[in-house]
Amino acid sequence: MNPYLNDFPVLKEQMNGKRLVYLDNAATTQKPVQVLRAVNEYYRRFNANPHRGLYALSVKATQMYEDARRTVAEFIGAKKDCEVIFTRNASESLNLVAYSYGLNFVNRGDEIALPVSEHHSNLVPWQMVARVKGAKLVYLYPDASGRLSDEEIDRKITRKTKVVAFAQVSNVLGTVYPVRKIVRKAHSVGAVTVLDSAQGIPHYPVDVSDLDVDFMAFSGHKMLAPMGIGVLYGKEKLLNRMPPFLMGGEMIEYVHEQSATFAPLPQKFEAGTQNVGGAVGLAEAVRYLRKVGYRTIRQTEDRLLAYTLKGLAQIPHVTVYGGTEAREDRCGVISFNVEGVHPHDVASILDADGVAIRAGHHCAEPLLEYMHVNATCRASLYFYNTKEDVDAFLQSLSRVRRWLGLGA
Ligand SMILES: Cc1ncc(COP(=O)(O)O)c(C=O)c1O
Repeated sequence: MNPYLNDFPVLKEQMNGKRLVYLDNAATTQKPVQVLRAVNEYYRRFNANPHRGLYALSVKATQMYEDARRTVAEFIGAKKDCEVIFTRNASESLNLVAYSYGLNFVNRGDEIALPVSEHHSNLVPWQMVARVKGAKLVYLYPDASGRLSDEEIDRKITRKTKVVAFAQVSNVLGTVYPVRKIVRKAHSVGAVTVLDSAQGIPHYPVDVSDLDVDFMAFSGHKMLAPMGIGVLYGKEKLLNRMPPFLMGGEMIEYVHEQSATFAPLPQKFEAGTQNVGGAVGLAEAVRYLRKVGYRTIRQTEDRLLAYTLKGLAQIPHVTVYGGTEAREDRCGVISFNVEGVHPHDVASILDADGVAIRAGHHCAEPLLEYMHVNATCRASLYFYNTKEDVDAFLQSLSRVRRWLGLGA
């Protein structure tokens, strides 16, 4: 029995008359009662617009919001709280860097290096910067096991590179990229690093100071927190040099008819009313993750990943992408296809058995083009999943072809 299951009410739901088997954790994770309670309590007892009111309730809301920032800053090893900017999600965090840093510090002829496996959120914004500034996108290509070789890293990151944007974990192949190596190489040529940790920090500890990344983005909803809250970490000296991304209330110092000056960090990047309930939920999610511990998360996921890959290898006509072996640099994200069956049909057939997986291009079309596939199915694990979940998934999958009259 998984000791954490009881904390997740959704996982006790039935779907299509079957026990819900939730294997779409790379899309979003479920929320424990502790997080739901914290958000509920914030709205029931402390809700007010932060940073504005002079009355006690607003002061309390402000304090809770800033406490959440401190909790996140400590969790990721930021040197200062003001290096943590709250956003809506990883996409907004990455857009902030592209618009505010990219458009101001990347110039004609410069290069932006990124793995071809990047999620559209860490790829399309850089296409925009390249187009506007006349810069060039240089892609790093993974090998058949999903890894980026040392030669690829050395060859593609050069003196022309000004930005290296890369995910900690691929949301399609589950590959864990060598963050330290990439950051070291980028810094050796004077480039800044933008780490997309949307699929990383839910599963692996991240210390931004130790890794020396310049920017890091992630979403609360992929790590047990509510949707609508995300984080951008940035080194203070870089954030201070960057202009605001969104303009409006609370991000200003003085405003005159024809001009404005801007607030110091982090308010400079937090225009408008902020998602205090989301920040409170994120802080509670951080406390929950700390309680579970990354060691437990890794042990559970690694065991389930090995078990799933072994099971998939025994089902005929299934192709797994990014290597078929469990290994240290592979997370519990498994893309696969069933020969002769469209991934959407696979997902629908599994859904009838209560098994929730994702099917499609996973917002990583350039990678799928590179792999010469249109779409894949994707099962993704988290620490609250169980061997029974994997068994239900494998059993349902083994019936897909027969169900469609294609033989075993
Ligand atoms: C690697 C990666 N980066 C960025 C994102 C974007 O996250 P969000 O939709 O929360 O902004 C995702 C979402 O799936 C992702 O997997």
